[in-house]
Amino acid sequence: MAKVAYFSGQKFPLEMHKVRIIQKLTLLPVEDRLKAIEGAGYNTFLLENKDVFLDMLTDSGVNAMSDNQQAAMLVADDAYAGSATFTRLHAKLQEFFGMEYFLPCHQGRAAEHILSRAYVEEGSVVPMNYHFTTMKAHVTACGGELVELLGPEGVAVTSQDPFKGDTELAALEALIKERGAENIPFFRVEAGTNLIGGQPVSLANYRAVYELCSKHGIKVVLDASLLADNLHFIKAREPEFANWSVADITLAIAECADIIYFSARKLGFGRGGGICTNSKEVYSDLRSWVPMFEGFLTYGGMSVREMEAITVGLDETLDEDMINQGPLFIEHFVDEMDQRGIPVITPPGGLGAHIDARGFLDHVDQRQYPSGALAAAVYVASGVRGMERGTLSEQREPDGTEPLAHMELLRLALPRRVFTLSQVQYAIDRIHWLYANRRLVGGLEWIEEPPILRFFYGLLRPVGDWQHALVAKFRQDFGDSL
Ligand code: F0G
Repeated sequence: MAKVAYFSGQKFPLEMHKVRIIQKLTLLPVEDRLKAIEGAGYNTFLLENKDVFLDMLTDSGVNAMSDNQQAAMLVADDAYAGSATFTRLHAKLQEFFGMEYFLPCHQGRAAEHILSRAYVEEGSVVPMNYHFTTMKAHVTACGGELVELLGPEGVAVTSQDPFKGDTELAALEALIKERGAENIPFFRVEAGTNLIGGQPVSLANYRAVYELCSKHGIKVVLDASLLADNLHFIKAREPEFANWSVADITLAIAECADIIYFSARKLGFGRGGGICTNSKEVYSDLRSWVPMFEGFLTYGGMSVREMEAITVGLDETLDEDMINQGPLFIEHFVDEMDQRGIPVITPPGGLGAHIDARGFLDHVDQRQYPSGALAAAVYVASGVRGMERGTLSEQREPDGTEPLAHMELLRLALPRRVFTLSQVQYAIDRIHWLYANRRLVGGLEWIEEPPILRFFYGLLRPVGDWQHALVAKFRQDFGDSL
């Protein structure tokens, strides 16, 4: 059961851990924050971490490790081939997913690379509940076409749908009929659907999708990178499974996939990744790519220390107290912003709080990147670093036209077990101030636009001179305060 407390009638999530190693933070004055974001080309990816107060860019590779994970790292068995560390991780994954084979790789996108190389070719159609940037890049690089099959609620900003990541079965059935099962190498289902706000998939939907795909001989590939949050949501929102253990829910989901891959930068509180399957044939299809791109079959580009940490981290993922903290903090973050009228994605998902930038900056044209502008403005107002998840994160078409994103989001990720509730409260208060002053914020335009994955290192500038007005208002309202 989720641990919450009520103070003065208000619900608060409770951390079921204590902090015993700390890292000092700095909070620069607003003028210095402006200089830092200017130096970063208004791109939060290019900020130096020393200039950031609360780093909510991502949860990837920055979740806090436990004492037991750190202890396990000390007993890692260094060997190029056949290390005991690998054997321990393999055995843990067999127990965790109930799958026999495991191919290690250095992170999630490496698994996507291997899967795409092995199964996607010119003319392939790869349906998904929703895409993720790196998987899309790999599928399209291999000549495949991506089709997204979320229901209409999936990309609605506010919704009552507890499982916005669910696939629309009728659409999947129609696609199979139209394009032919022989042209569909696999269906990819993403747990905790990242780009629509970390929204979960129900166990009922995992089951229905698997049944339909199996009937047509189509493999189901589960991206389990964000599985931990999805496990919490199945227990919390799908009444039939409220009393199931997290371990049993994990196995039930795994039964709905032929192949599971994951980024251990998210799942398992470590850094690394891998692919699991029960099929000897799939294992043979994929195996030769691992030594070619990743490393030998018993490390796949991961350090043995990280593999030990993941083994322990997977055990912790089956402990409700450990995985609840992320979603409960996010729920608090989202609810508090919602109550202040700030447009946020609802219901709260995993990974982080997601602000609807089109609602927040409704006066900024989508072609002037409201999510990117909001990310920069939030940094100036608070020292909090978020991530643009909107049109900037899209790629231009080969003819140069720019697709507009379905959703313009500013993601404020909460790496697991890292932040305190007062830090979250600080972020809420500063974002609330920015919302009251939102008309001061304008759009962005390119200085330098890279042709691929432009959001990582592109350089932008404000349209007009809005940044100085924002800093002046901050000083007026906050006086000498940081
Ligand atoms: N799948 C999902 C659902 C992800 O969120 C990510 C990474 C990947 C695959 C790729 O894994 O980074 O280990 O190569 N998401 C990160 C993020 C980058 O910030 O959301 P990776």
